[in-house]
Amino acid sequence: KILVLDFGSQYNQLITRRIRDLGVYSELKSHKLTANEIKQMNPKGIIFSGGPNSVYEEGALRVDPDVFKLGIPILGICYGMQLMAYTLDGKVEKADNSEYGHADIDITANDAVLFENTPRKQPVWMSHGDLVNEVPSGFESVATSPDCPISAMQDVSRNFYGIQFHAEVRNTKYGNEILKNFAFNVCHAKANWTMNDFIDLQIQHIRETVGDKKVLLGLSGGVDSSVVGVLLHKAIGTQLTSIFVDHGLLRKNEADQVMDSLAGKFGLNIIKVDAQERFLSKLKGVTDPEKKRKIIGNEFIQVFNDEARKLHGIDFLAQGTLYTDVVESGTDTAQTIKSHHNVGGLPKDMKFKLIEPLNKLFKDEAREIGEKLGMPDALVWRQPFPGPGLGIRVLGEVTKDKLRIVRDSDAILRDEIAKNGLERKVWQYFTVLPGFKSVGVMGDGRTYDYTVAIRAVNSVDGMTADFARLPWDVLQQISVRIVNEVDGVNRIVYDVTSKPPSTIEWE
Ligand code: XMP
Repeated sequence: KILVLDFGSQYNQLITRRIRDLGVYSELKSHKLTANEIKQMNPKGIIFSGGPNSVYEEGALRVDPDVFKLGIPILGICYGMQLMAYTLDGKVEKADNSEYGHADIDITANDAVLFENTPRKQPVWMSHGDLVNEVPSGFESVATSPDCPISAMQDVSRNFYGIQFHAEVRNTKYGNEILKNFAFNVCHAKANWTMNDFIDLQIQHIRETVGDKKVLLGLSGGVDSSVVGVLLHKAIGTQLTSIFVDHGLLRKNEADQVMDSLAGKFGLNIIKVDAQERFLSKLKGVTDPEKKRKIIGNEFIQVFNDEARKLHGIDFLAQGTLYTDVVESGTDTAQTIKSHHNVGGLPKDMKFKLIEPLNKLFKDEAREIGEKLGMPDALVWRQPFPGPGLGIRVLGEVTKDKLRIVRDSDAILRDEIAKNGLERKVWQYFTVLPGFKSVGVMGDGRTYDYTVAIRAVNSVDGMTADFARLPWDVLQQISVRIVNEVDGVNRIVYDVTSKPPSTIEWE
């Protein structure tokens, strides 16, 4: 296994992800681990992640200097490289020019170990305000860029490597090669880890954590919580009770489909709670998106609490939280973009201990687990659906009538996407009700009705997304059907922004 030590970069889980993709198990651990604790874990290699600090400042995150005495190969990325240089008597200073984004580096050494089988000149992705301007003794500089004379360094005898750029992001063209060179040529790791191992590990871990206690699962019907449900069912069987809250913010027929497949086929014990009125009354008059998210999240937990109290003796609450939900809701260092409701909305006095088996994974990894668990395509490939549901697709105040418009138009959109064989080709697609009205003409009369927006995006993990290039004739068909079949709509627009600068959902 290869350990990644966390110094607070937005990309730290992405590093573990890239290593896992190479078939080598990798996990993210706190930078606070002592050298001794690391030794116990017996990793083949260690990676120091990037991070927002300046190493020379007071309070900057440091590492136990004894890790350099363990004889384990170490790769420092960005802040990790600076930390390596700083701890081992090199020099780190503020850069004359901060670098953010694309840069070209030149490999200057003939035996630059990490750059084996990559070109002498290559594009990388930089993001730093400091730089190493003197390598520690034993090291040599092996790559350079105009703004960063020491872009990479190595000490082959001790197996210490540093790169100033982010090998884990796609914009670094040969990033994967570089990580491969580290994992296989330097650490001599073996590519023998698969998602099945992860499943076995999780099942074992869940059994150990839960013991003979009971677990409650918040089942939303989405991919993530369904996968967690099947995984937990496999691990602890009848100790799991799932609660499926129909908050009235679900898509058309969704509640029935979820019950049919998870309770029916997979045999999960599911309690369906009808809480539509409860949610709607809490949302009455509320227009602020963050407030809506918090209210829906809180109400969810309230409903759980009420149900759990009826069940007696529940100690754990399981959730389908993914890593992307955690990052975007803000971690110790990462900034809050939106409060994803299974993270930011949790009340402080919550009584349950949390179980979140997917919280280190990305969406496509969750799907892979679902497939490995034998779940049907319709569940595994269900497009992502946010916890707050249609509540954040009706912009501003949520009312029954507006929900009807979003729900019915969404059903038409999904129907047409399926009919045209685009289901697996578009990552996520839905309709939004912005809430304004405009003038139209139908028959011979003037109309003054709502506009519905179509949002369709392609993405790998939800962190970034590109708007989908849906064929015009499909869009036309959708547009015609929505205006004809959904009362109160007279105009359709298509969202042509990507993420960033937009987000996928409108609220
Ligand atoms: P955004 O809108 O942040 O969405 O670009 C990224 C992905 O996450 C989904 N999403 C959520 N998922 N709880 C969830 O479980 C939430 O509160 C939530 N908000 C957004 C969104 O549908 C997209 O796939």
